[in-house]
Amino acid sequence: MKKQLKLLAAVTLIFTTFAAHAAEPLALQQVMKDLGKNMQIVTDGISREDWTLVEHSAHLIGEHPEAPLSEKVRIMAFMGSNMGKFKSFDGQTHEAAHEMAEAAQEKDGQKVIATFQKLQIGCLACHQAFRPAFVAHFYGKSAN
Ligand code: HEC
Repeated sequence: MKKQLKLLAAVTLIFTTFAAHAAEPLALQQVMKDLGKNMQIVTDGISREDWTLVEHSAHLIGEHPEAPLSEKVRIMAFMGSNMGKFKSFDGQTHEAAHEMAEAAQEKDGQKVIATFQKLQIGCLACHQAFRPAFVAHFYGKSAN
């Protein structure tokens, strides 16, 4: 019985991994859209020196939701040996977002801007390294 359940779980995982429609947007895309929105809110917060807003948004950026397991499996399969690099870009942005939250808490505008730059460099680095091939693979079109 236990063996059968394990087999069923494995088959379900494989099925959800490969049966997902190729052109359907990944959950990651919505995560990214939200990251983009929160970055815009941060720039607005900086202009207004609304450090509470900046801190709140920095936490939303740093603690963004993760893609579901079935999607992670697809991403890992695509990334292969590049997964470590992909993860390290993710880690870099989480760290920068955390530093930005701290700077906002200290109401240190200069530091907020410096950490915001660090954050954007992290976003850009991952996009430049992976987005074109990622989009081509999962949606069968080139990144815009
Ligand atoms: C670890 C890699 C990685 C990091 C770090 C990363 N992104 Fe992305 N981003 C991607 C990938 C991959 C896509 C393409 C996703 C897709 O189209 O399904 C993407 C797409 C996007 C998009 C376009 C979404 C759309 O509407 O099609 C936005 C906006 C975005 N990212 C914002 C950000 C911001 C802001 C940050 C930094 C705070 C960031 N990303 C950090 C990998 C990353």
